[in-house]
Amino acid sequence: MRTIIIAGNWKMYKDVQETMDLVTQLKAAMPQLPANVVSVICPPFTSLQTAGAALRGSAFKLGAQNMSQHDEGAHTGEISGKMLKAVGCEYVILGHSERRQYYGETNELINQKAKKALSLGLISIICVGETLQEREAGITGQVVTTQIKGTLLGIGPQDMAKIVVAYEPVWAIGTGRVATPQQAQEVHQILRKQIAQLYDWALAERIVIQYGGSVKPDNAADILTQSDVDGALVGGACLKADSFAAIIKATKP
Ligand code: 13P
Repeated sequence: MRTIIIAGNWKMYKDVQETMDLVTQLKAAMPQLPANVVSVICPPFTSLQTAGAALRGSAFKLGAQNMSQHDEGAHTGEISGKMLKAVGCEYVILGHSERRQYYGETNELINQKAKKALSLGLISIICVGETLQEREAGITGQVVTTQIKGTLLGIGPQDMAKIVVAYEPVWAIGTGRVATPQQAQEVHQILRKQIAQLYDWALAERIVIQYGGSVKPDNAADILTQSDVDGALVGGACLKADSFAAIIKATKP
C-alpha cells in the first residue's frame, strides 16, 4: 500500500504572524494523522523558519515551494536546497505550473533542480499538468508524458524513493473547476505507466502520485478514493486549518 501524502501549497500567502496562527490551528485540529498519511505544509520562504520551529514534534512535515538548481553563488533572489534543509524542510515542490507559466521554468530546469534536491536528500514533489487548450486538443497524455520524461531524465531507480509526482491540470488550479475523479484517475494511470516504462512496474507501483487543482473538503473523498490517486496538493483550501484538516480526514482508510 502506498503512503498518502496531503500537501498544502500556501503559495504567496501568510506572513510570519499569520504563519504562526495557522500552524497553531493546524496542530490543534490534527494532533495526529490517520495511519499511512503524511502531511506536508509548504509556506513561503520567509515563513519557513517560523513554521519549522512551530511544527517540531507535530504530525506535519515542512516543504518549500521552489529552490535553486545551484549550490550557492551570485544568484540574486534565489534560495538553495541547503538553506531549505537548514530550516527543517524535508520536501520541495518543483515545476509548479505557476513557475512554468510565469517564470519560464522548463522540464530541463526542473530536472536540474530535482537532481540537486536528490543530492541533498530532499524529497521533490514534481508537478505536471496540461492546459485547457491542450486538454481540448486531446493531447493531455502526450503533454504529461513529455513532462514526466523530461523532469526525470537521468534520475536512477535508487533515487525514485525521494520523488513524488503531482498531477495538476492547469485549468483546475484556483478555478473551482476540479477534474472529475475519472479524469484524474485516467491521467494518474498514464503517468504510472510512463514511470513503469522508464523504470519498472514494481517501482511505478511505489510512486506517490498526488492530484492538485481545486481540491476542497467536499470533493476530496471522491478524488482520493481513486486507485491511482495517492494524495493531494492543495492550494486555496490549505490556507484555513479546518478545511485542510477536513481534506486530510477524507483520505481513504
Ligand atoms: P488550488 O487548490 O487553489 O486550485 O491550487 C492547487 C495548486 O496549485 C496546488 O499546488
